[in-house]
Amino acid sequence: MRVTVLEAADLLKTGNVVAVATETVYGLAASLFHPAAIEQIFTLKNRPAANPLIIHVADATQIEQFTESLSFEFLQLAKSFWPGPMTLVTEILSEKISAKVRAGLTTAAFRIPSHPLTLELLRLTGPLVMPSANLSGKPSATSPEHVEADFGIHFPVLDGGVCINGLESTILYFNQEEWVIIRQGALSAEIFHPVLGYTPIIENGTQKERPICPGQLFRHYAPQAKLMLVKHFTNKENQIIVGFSDRVYPVGSVVYPLGELSKPETIAHNLYSVLRQLDVDGIEAALVDDDFPSDGILASVRERLLKAASK
Ligand code: TXA
Ligand code: MG
Repeated sequence: MRVTVLEAADLLKTGNVVAVATETVYGLAASLFHPAAIEQIFTLKNRPAANPLIIHVADATQIEQFTESLSFEFLQLAKSFWPGPMTLVTEILSEKISAKVRAGLTTAAFRIPSHPLTLELLRLTGPLVMPSANLSGKPSATSPEHVEADFGIHFPVLDGGVCINGLESTILYFNQEEWVIIRQGALSAEIFHPVLGYTPIIENGTQKERPICPGQLFRHYAPQAKLMLVKHFTNKENQIIVGFSDRVYPVGSVVYPLGELSKPETIAHNLYSVLRQLDVDGIEAALVDDDFPSDGILASVRERLLKAASK
């Protein structure tokens, strides 16, 4: 059920959960100040309680109330990349944010989205928690139809069209020495160099005894279809291939095109839609063309595909 921004704001302010468009992926929103709605998000998604939520705000000054102070570099990153697909993790005053939201950590994650509708909504509601609007473990939703496929046609959705980025925000964390990327996403690592003076390294969460990005531990982005990443294709017929539209594949194969490799943003934009389409079509197994470079946004695409293909 599509709702207007005013209807969405009313629903959220009265403790309901609403699916909301953002520029990255659709989010399942609840007010930060409605514990029962936050609880409902975990239930609806079947999300592990150990996986914390990102707090979305309309303005960086709204973050100050939750922290003792924000570092100079936090503010520099905020100024350069917000509103936009970046999430920053910082230490917070724990009594200000429920343990459920931060999964018991002493930090919380914040983001200012750039989609005009999301910003308009946030100005009406105040801080909203928003995990991606998909069942836990499944590919994220990048259109209202994807949300409806997971939560039913009666679920309230603030329709902002198809998400421009199509990949989740990039999450950064300061490890006491430097900023590191704890989840790759719509902004590539290199983009942060001019602001930080270095390219943040990618720590995908599981290296440390305690993961710094709990979400990285869980199965993610995976369709029902079994995916296998391959560098070469044999000349067999009837292969189902997730590939690129500017490549030639063996005659007789069925190709699900991610887009042209020469336009990496398009590939990120289409990724979840293609993974979801495999399930709509009842595909049991598909080969994924893994012969593509690992720079820029394509590094994030490969990370998602590896996760989607993992057991
Ligand atoms: O683009 C996005 O970030 C989307 C849209 C809706 O804003 N949201 C999103 O939320 O991707 P979700 O819940 O699917 O992923 C949030 C990730 C999880 O991997 C979680 O573990 C991590 O953020 N996270 C949240 N709080 C954290 C914290 N305090 N420390 C480390 N990681 C945190
Ligand atoms: Mg997610």
